[in-house]
Amino acid sequence: MATILIAGANRGIGLELARQYAAEGHDVIRCMRGTDKAGEEIGETRPLDVTDDASAAALAKALAGRPIDLVIANAGVIGPEKQSATEMDFPGFLAVLDTNVLGPLRVVQALLPNLRAAGQARVAVVSSQMGSFRSTQPNFVAYRASKAAVNKVFQCLAGDLKEEGIAVAALHPGWVRTDMGGPGADLAVETSAAGIRKVLDDLDLGRTGRFYAYDGTELEW
Ligand SMILES: NC(=O)c1ccc[n+]([C@@H]2O[C@H](COP(=O)([O-])OP(=O)(O)OC[C@H]3O[C@@H](n4cnc5c(N)ncnc54)[C@H](OP(=O)(O)O)[C@@H]3O)[C@@H](O)[C@H]2O)c1
Repeated sequence: MATILIAGANRGIGLELARQYAAEGHDVIRCMRGTDKAGEEIGETRPLDVTDDASAAALAKALAGRPIDLVIANAGVIGPEKQSATEMDFPGFLAVLDTNVLGPLRVVQALLPNLRAAGQARVAVVSSQMGSFRSTQPNFVAYRASKAAVNKVFQCLAGDLKEEGIAVAALHPGWVRTDMGGPGADLAVETSAAGIRKVLDDLDLGRTGRFYAYDGTELEW
């Protein structure tokens, strides 16, 4: 059984991933900054605000010496109301970048000793196809830019970690019925999480540094 840490696991996709991994018997560490919406005991919980260096350092300190087989950087925000290329809420744009781009890297860097200690560890960021350069719709500019940026960051991370035997992937969870995706979205959260687990089960050094949808399709950046 693996030790799996999920950032942003108090609700939405992160919580469902935690629920499914825990049901399989894995040792799950659910990280969150806010209120736990689980309504039941699932794994262990740890405080983490992905925008806060001190919070990431405190998490790393609390987990020091403990091998972690899989880190899923799932925490993310959609960003400000006003985020078109002609009318931008600039502080809001910066905040999205901090959460969606720096946040995942902050978490993974803090936990590198734990990943290295595991041997053949894996890392994933929950990104979005909205960050793909193939997707040309001009809405949600800050969010799209953040997901494009985090894809590049994790592609580079994959290159850096390959020699150490750590595989890295960027994931598109589909359009999912969560607070972010809304009630009209295509997928139940259970379906998305089950698909993501399968993609991550198959993730190895031969598949590292790529962008996958929840159904296993490899996506263009
Ligand atoms: N739903 C979709 O259709 C969809 C599609 C493509 C990609 N995604 C991506 O999937 C991921 C999960 O989204 P979701 O649909 O589950 O959204 P959600 O229900 O809104 O959940 C977002 C999660 O991120 C956490 N979070 C946000 N900022 C944080 C911070 N600074 N520190 C720690 N945790 C933070 C939230 O915690 P709080 O409760 O504290 O806010 C919550 O747990 C996101 O990265 C999102 O961009 C979602």
